[in-house]
Amino acid sequence: MRIAVCASEGAPYAKSGGLGDVMEALPAALSRIEGNEVALFLPFYNKIKSNAAYTTELVAQFRVQLGWRQQYAGVMKLTNRADKVQVYFIDNEYYFGGRTGAIYGDMDDGERFAFFSRACLDAMAVLGFIPDVIQCNDWQCAPIPVYLKALYHESFPNTRCMYTIHNIEYQGWANAAFFDDVLGLPWEYRNTLDMNNSVNVMKGAIETADLVTTVSETYARELMYPYYAHGLDGILANAAWKLTGITNGIDTNTFNPETDKALPAHYNAETFEEGKAKVKAALQEEVGLPVKPDVPLMVMVTRLAGHKGLDLLCYIARRLLWEEDCQLLILGTGEAQYETFFKELQEQFPEQVAAKITFNLGLAARIYAGGDIYLMPSKSEPCGLSQMNAMRYGTVPVVHATGGLKDTVPPCDENGEGGLGFTFQSYNADDFLAAIKRALALYNEQPENWKALIKKEMEMDFSWDVPAGRYMELFHHMCSW
Ligand code: GLC
Repeated sequence: MRIAVCASEGAPYAKSGGLGDVMEALPAALSRIEGNEVALFLPFYNKIKSNAAYTTELVAQFRVQLGWRQQYAGVMKLTNRADKVQVYFIDNEYYFGGRTGAIYGDMDDGERFAFFSRACLDAMAVLGFIPDVIQCNDWQCAPIPVYLKALYHESFPNTRCMYTIHNIEYQGWANAAFFDDVLGLPWEYRNTLDMNNSVNVMKGAIETADLVTTVSETYARELMYPYYAHGLDGILANAAWKLTGITNGIDTNTFNPETDKALPAHYNAETFEEGKAKVKAALQEEVGLPVKPDVPLMVMVTRLAGHKGLDLLCYIARRLLWEEDCQLLILGTGEAQYETFFKELQEQFPEQVAAKITFNLGLAARIYAGGDIYLMPSKSEPCGLSQMNAMRYGTVPVVHATGGLKDTVPPCDENGEGGLGFTFQSYNADDFLAAIKRALALYNEQPENWKALIKKEMEMDFSWDVPAGRYMELFHHMCSW
């Protein structure tokens, strides 16, 4: 099957979050399936262009019609990728060159990604790469299914389109003029994109894609409710017949405690006791905490953003640190209020708290491995990847039972049996604290059961093989229509 994957970011080239990780692993997993030919389309950001590690070749140039504008697009083929995925970067200096270096956040993001979306389709047509399926992601690529239906039917008469939502908070809102001025779509699509007299490109994608997926089964159900759907619940409820959840995997080669170069010691499900202890000691030392093997180390690697549930942690942090002999280590950057809170917490509890307000992949790996308990109280979480990273490294998660957290961390009882971690149901700080205390009690009082839980987690298969198979099922399903 010929598959085109389109996204605004993809590791290792450009990544701002989980979407970037998925766009590294999913195309690769699909390309390992026999008979598949996979092309990945990404913007040619300046930092990709200027990175000598990537060699590219210009394979096509054309103009993209965006409303009244015609904008240059170059297609740069990556020539030195090791696996079978063919990567094409869409080049346009004005939209993706010389900007701040951040992937998002420009005033004209709407126009930048409308350009990218349309350029992907033009590129496929010019290259003669006519896919059976286009899989496209999040609001940035939401114009793709709309364009495909409205303007590209002749070039792609049999191509089906799957639209995948990684986060419904960002929908691609624009004022009504965007419809003619930038998208340049035929008038009969006005209603498809209209929401409250504005343009909402994600709504357009949901309505025009052949299938809509999101990144966990629970999140797919949650999206029918106003609490989670940020205004799109009605639209998604109408589209329920074509909405499916496929829980992400993680790249188990990159995230492997037996080989991860960032770790000072290596281990597997048999040898974790010694290995994790070594990493923990080195980690405590690295972040300036007292090196205490028996004190439970609670960790978090996260963007410091409200929906990650930091308000719950802020609310209970002092009580937890007073009541329990434990350590807390946070790595991440984000909203100023949280950065300040954790810095102050570290000042108040220097023996117990380390706040690393930075972005550091190596340290992140050492935290996944060296921690005992991984906290992830997200208010909502489409899938979440770091809880799986943590389990793969033998760190027990405490999570809010929502979205992908609910699907990947089944709750265990107070003996650590029957599940993989500790969960709480309602988004409430005291419930979160109670779940942490259950984890601490198991750690402190039942070391044998604690070890059995770690072993079970490390033996889980979080690889992409299963989800990639589910994507294939849906691709075949679409193509059978
Ligand atoms: C977004 C979601 C996260 C998910 C990731 C990859 O970042 O917020 O939950 O894991 O996309 O799908």
